[in-house]
Amino acid sequence: MIFDSHVHYDDEAFDGDREEVFQKIQAEGVGMVVDIGADIESTKMAVELSEKYDFIYAAAGVHPSEIASLTEEDMEWLKQVSQKEKVVAIGEIGLDYHYDNIDKELQKKWFKRQLGLARETGLPVCIHSRDAAQDTLDIMQAANSSEIGGVIHCFSYGWDIAKIYLDMGFYLGIGGVLTFKNSKKLKEVAQKTPLERIVLETDAPYLAPEPYRGKRNVSHYLSYVVDELAAIKGVGREGIMQATWDNAMSLYRIKGQA
Ligand code: NI
Repeated sequence: MIFDSHVHYDDEAFDGDREEVFQKIQAEGVGMVVDIGADIESTKMAVELSEKYDFIYAAAGVHPSEIASLTEEDMEWLKQVSQKEKVVAIGEIGLDYHYDNIDKELQKKWFKRQLGLARETGLPVCIHSRDAAQDTLDIMQAANSSEIGGVIHCFSYGWDIAKIYLDMGFYLGIGGVLTFKNSKKLKEVAQKTPLERIVLETDAPYLAPEPYRGKRNVSHYLSYVVDELAAIKGVGREGIMQATWDNAMSLYRIKGQA
């Protein structure tokens, strides 16, 4: 079975057919997903989904593009909600310098604050880092993030950065981009990273793999990523699915389900 470690099924892209999507992905061999909060509203819905469906877990957090209006009360709410049984991570949190519209200092402030929340609550983190490699690393190292643990979601940097995160004990989240023709850098990272430290993720509805690139992504499309990773690693499809399942279970510290 496939464990999709990073989805946004709370997204409005699924408002029309969410229930059918859940039936379809389970019928296609997806056994578990973690719905990742992007802001306060989406965290609320991620938690609701996790309470309604056995196979869905949730992460609570605010994406760097959504931090502009955050308040200390929001942090207090996040802290409370993260005590819930099926909330398994703080995320997604981090830095995104791709678009120049959110103040970098403000992003750093709330990133540090949410890393602190992870430490307080004892949960791992789900990190979003885009075009911000050095600042992300500096903040995570200053926060002794190796003691917090977690995953670098949609890993997009080179092997030099990958190696540092692996040394810190982090997992790397790999998804649809691996199937893109221009993904040489990520293929090299996937090849050099021990299979024990890779988790599969769609980031649904975003980043659909080939041959669905540009379309709405859903968890069972990970089958194409499994094929690509199997070829890179020289391991069979079953071996890839089993290893990445086990990895996601230990990343999110989910117990009692094989
Ligand atoms: Ni995401």
